[in-house]
Amino acid sequence: MSALHDIEAPTVVPVGLGARAYDIVIGPGLIAGLGSRIAALRPGARVGIVTDANVAERHLAPVEASLKEAGLTPSTVTVAPGEGSKSFATFEAVLDGLLAARIERRDLVLALGGGVVGDLAGFAAATLRRGVDFVQVPTSLLAQVDSSVGGKTGINSRHGKNLIGAFHQPVLVLADTDALDTLPLREFRAGYAEVAKYGLIDNAPFFEWLERKWREVFAGGPARIEAIATSCASKADVVARDEFETGDRALLNLGHTFGHALEAGAGFSQRLLHGEAVAVGMAQAFRFSVSQGLCAGQDAERVAAHLRAVGLPTRIADIPGELPDTDGLMNLIAQDKKVSRGALTFILARGIGQSFIARDVDPAAVRAFLEAERQ
Ligand code: GLY
Repeated sequence: MSALHDIEAPTVVPVGLGARAYDIVIGPGLIAGLGSRIAALRPGARVGIVTDANVAERHLAPVEASLKEAGLTPSTVTVAPGEGSKSFATFEAVLDGLLAARIERRDLVLALGGGVVGDLAGFAAATLRRGVDFVQVPTSLLAQVDSSVGGKTGINSRHGKNLIGAFHQPVLVLADTDALDTLPLREFRAGYAEVAKYGLIDNAPFFEWLERKWREVFAGGPARIEAIATSCASKADVVARDEFETGDRALLNLGHTFGHALEAGAGFSQRLLHGEAVAVGMAQAFRFSVSQGLCAGQDAERVAAHLRAVGLPTRIADIPGELPDTDGLMNLIAQDKKVSRGALTFILARGIGQSFIARDVDPAAVRAFLEAERQ
C-alpha cells in the first residue's frame, strides 16, 4: 500500500459534493493553524464553539488562541460528556448559547470533540437561523474516520438513536491526529472498529494492511495517519456518490444493524461503546452471511480474529451484564432506521472487501441466527 501522506504537509482528502464540497485535513499539530484556515473561509467571523467538558480541558485553550490570533471572535458552549447530551434538553441549551453569542448566518459553528459533540453541534448549526455553516474538529478516532465526515447530524429520541436530525455538511473537517494521543485506549479501540470496517466493505488490501500494521496504527505516527486518511478517502468517496443514503452509502452501516440493537440493549452505556457494538455487529454480519451460504467460514473467522487481536469484542458473550433475549433484540432491530416498512435490510458479505446491501432479509433467519449465537 503506498503512503498517502507526506510527513511535512497535512494530508488533504476532498469531499466532492459540488457546491457543498469541502476538505478533510489530516495530520499532527493542526489545531495551531485552525484559526488561519477558518479565517480564509470566513474572515472576521464569530465562531460558536460547541464542546464537552473533557475535551475543553485538553483542547479548548489552544483552539480559542488560534481563532483569536486569526482575528476571529470565539465563544463557547460546553456540554456534559457522553451520549446523554444528544438530547432535546441539551440541543435547546446549545441553540440558546449560540443565539446568546449572536452567531449569525455568516458566522460559524465549530464542533470540537467526538461523535456526540459533532452530531449535536452539527444539528444545532443545521437549524440555527435555518442553517449556519459549521466546521468539524474531531478529537476521537471514531469522529476522525466516520462521524465528522458526510454531514449526518442529529440527536437521540426515547424511541431510538439518531432518529431526529438533518443532513448538513461541514465546510471543513480538521483532524488533528495529536488529539488521539490523549484518548483512552478503550475509546481508540472502539474507533478502530470503524477503520477496519472500510477494509471489510470494499477494500481487502486495506484490511490485509491493517492485519499487518495495526500495532503501528495504535502506536501513532505515519501508519496511524495513513489509516485515518484511507478511511476518510473511502468515506468521502461513498458520500460523494450517495450523499443522502438512497443507495451505496448504506454500505457504511456494515455491523450497525446488529450493533445498534446491542447498543440499545445495553442502554447506550459505558458497558458497550458504539465502536465495540459495531465490532460485534461486523463479526455477526460475517457469521450470518456464512449461515446463509454467502461467505466462506474462513473469512468470518479472519474478521473475528483481527478484531479480537486488537482487543475488541466479537460475540454477545463478550458484552458484560444482561442483554435483552432474542425477541427483545429482534424488536430493537425492527426499530432501526435501516428498516423500511418492516423489511429488514442488512449489509452482508460475500467475503472480505465484498460487502453488499441485502434488502428483504428473512426475519426468521435472523432470529434463528441470534438464537444460535446465544448458545
Ligand atoms: N456513519 C455512517 C454514515 O455516515 O453514513
